[in-house]
Amino acid sequence: MNVSRIRGRDTPVPTEVSILQDALSIELIRRQLSAQAVGRQIYLFGEVTSTNEVLRNLAKAGAREGTVVLAEGQTAGRGRLGKTWFSPFGVNLYASVLFRPAIGPTEAPVFSFIASLALADAIRALGLAAAIKWPNDVLVERKKVAGVLAEVATSDDRLDYVMLGVGVNLNVERKALVAALGEAGRAAGSLRDVAGKAIDRNAFAASFLSFLDEWLLVYRDRGGAALLSAWRDRDILTGRRVQVREERITFDGKALGVHADGQLVVEDSKGLTRKVVSGEVRLLD
Ligand code: BTN
Repeated sequence: MNVSRIRGRDTPVPTEVSILQDALSIELIRRQLSAQAVGRQIYLFGEVTSTNEVLRNLAKAGAREGTVVLAEGQTAGRGRLGKTWFSPFGVNLYASVLFRPAIGPTEAPVFSFIASLALADAIRALGLAAAIKWPNDVLVERKKVAGVLAEVATSDDRLDYVMLGVGVNLNVERKALVAALGEAGRAAGSLRDVAGKAIDRNAFAASFLSFLDEWLLVYRDRGGAALLSAWRDRDILTGRRVQVREERITFDGKALGVHADGQLVVEDSKGLTRKVVSGEVRLLD
């Protein structure tokens, strides 16, 4: 049955059509993209295991800096610390971007901050206040709406590439988050929830990639110090009570800030200063 004919001209567009219009489209993203390096090559897939996995294979085959892999859904989306990343089809943004910066492996953590800076900017451009929780989580109203999985490849102590995989909860429904993530779902949110309206995924993707390109230029022109300074302005942890979960230990303390090497500095309850290389940090107040 032709739905538009029986509904008449001025009736709202049927749901199936609106879903189709909201499908990710390289053409729509390109029309709104303003970038030199990021997005030189964009691949868009329906469902993949993980965009990071797809991009890793492209990187090994010689893909250029700025190559982007997007997917409508992921069957094995990965998060930090071996977690899975809930990746329902057709509602969010799952993107991986390849960089080949001329830096050493120890500089990669600070370089990775370009991802959360670009995410925070793209969210702010929607009129929402975004903050960054170390290392690269992006929060709105204290709910995590986006995360970054940075992967590096080295050969003989040299950095071969850095891959920044970004997941953003754009239009996923709250009940779906809670159903998929259980208790952890309560600490997560979607931009649609906080904005009170659906987020245009192509516009958001273009905005994020454009900001990513800008931060890449900032890094090239002014180095890690410029990133750190911008990152510190958006940091939600410094001065707050936190709980840090590392692989073997968990401790409470006060976040003192991020060090020049990208590690988080925390004063524990005994007054000892600790540097956190990799771990999960929870705000306690
Ligand atoms: C985190 O906060 O734990 C990081 C989440 C990163 C998820 C993204 S989705 C696109 C890319 N592909 C993956 O498998 N993971 C990243």
